[in-house]
Amino acid sequence: MADSGGGGGCGRCCCSFILTSGLTALFMWLSLRTSNPVCSIQDIYVPALNKSANSTDATNIYFNLKLDNENKDKGIYYDALNLTFFYAPNKSLPIGNRTFRQFYQGHKKNTRRTGWVETRGVPWEAILNGSAASFRVDLATAVRFKIMAWKTKKHKLVVGADVDVNDHGQKVYKKGIRLRSGAPERGCYRARVGTLVTLIIAVYHLVFLN
Ligand SMILES: *[C@@H]1O[C@H](CO)[C@@H](O)[C@H](O)[C@H]1NC(C)=O
Ligand SMILES: *[C@@H]1O[C@H](CO)[C@@H](O)[C@H](O)[C@H]1NC(C)=O
Ligand SMILES: *[C@@H]1O[C@H](CO)[C@@H](O)[C@H](O)[C@H]1NC(C)=O
Ligand SMILES: *[C@@H]1O[C@H](CO)[C@@H](O)[C@H](O)[C@H]1NC(C)=O
Ligand SMILES: *[C@@H]1O[C@H](CO)[C@@H](O)[C@H](O)[C@H]1NC(C)=O
Ligand SMILES: *[C@@H]1O[C@H](CO)[C@@H](O)[C@H](O)[C@H]1NC(C)=O
Repeated sequence: MADSGGGGGCGRCCCSFILTSGLTALFMWLSLRTSNPVCSIQDIYVPALNKSANSTDATNIYFNLKLDNENKDKGIYYDALNLTFFYAPNKSLPIGNRTFRQFYQGHKKNTRRTGWVETRGVPWEAILNGSAASFRVDLATAVRFKIMAWKTKKHKLVVGADVDVNDHGQKVYKKGIRLRSGAPERGCYRARVGTLVTLIIAVYHLVFLN
């Protein structure tokens, strides 16, 4: 280390450079860190399963989706957002879907997407025979974060959850159900470590090659 600095007297100097650049990298990493929006299903209503109503011809499902940007100072650009519904016992067969346009969400903001989805291929008769039903809701989009004046790269956001519906056609649990990614969020972690390493290398170049 001291040799590359060109003299023995530079050792202490080197140490403080390393410390400073390390701290700078850590600080930059902390301020560039991003977290994905929290997506949750706040409500689901399936009129066809409401045994107090005679709505045997109703085949639509109502949903209320909430998107929370919990980042303190980063906005989120959402790509077009796809919601896909499955009758849970058969995840190979989508029963309906909705697409929402791309949009921007400021930091610490939340927004909802609500509406009805037309379904097809649901075995309503068999479900009505039972006591409760379960639907799978998958969300797929891509997001990029706005950090001050620049935007990060796009990355995919694919999350989902099972939602149980009772015999009034209502979501069983009162609280929102968080949609989660099936795979552990390794991609995100790797991206962060990648950023950190890049920063350290950049800082070292600045410090030692000037
Ligand atoms: C459902 O249908 C039954 C018989 O067809 C009728 O007696 C009842 O009032 C109906 N209930 C509603 C909520 O429409
Ligand atoms: C089920 O249907 C009945 C009769 O139409 C209605 O009063 C009730 O609000 C419905 N249940 C839910 C959860 O909306
Ligand atoms: C799921 O749906 C596919 C396509 O209709 C069908 O071939 C398969 O048997 C179904 N599986 C179950 C468990 O219902
Ligand atoms: C989405 O729903 C439409 C009908 O509403 C259907 O034509 C289309 O195939 C569906 N897409 C997927 C990916 O299931
Ligand atoms: C409903 O349940 C009854 C008795 O358990 C059974 O005989 C009938 O086949 C079932 N109907 C459907 C559509 O699953
Ligand atoms: C959303 O659905 C559209 C139409 O089916 C498709 O072109 C697009 O790739 C989907 N987006 C994602 C993120 O899956």
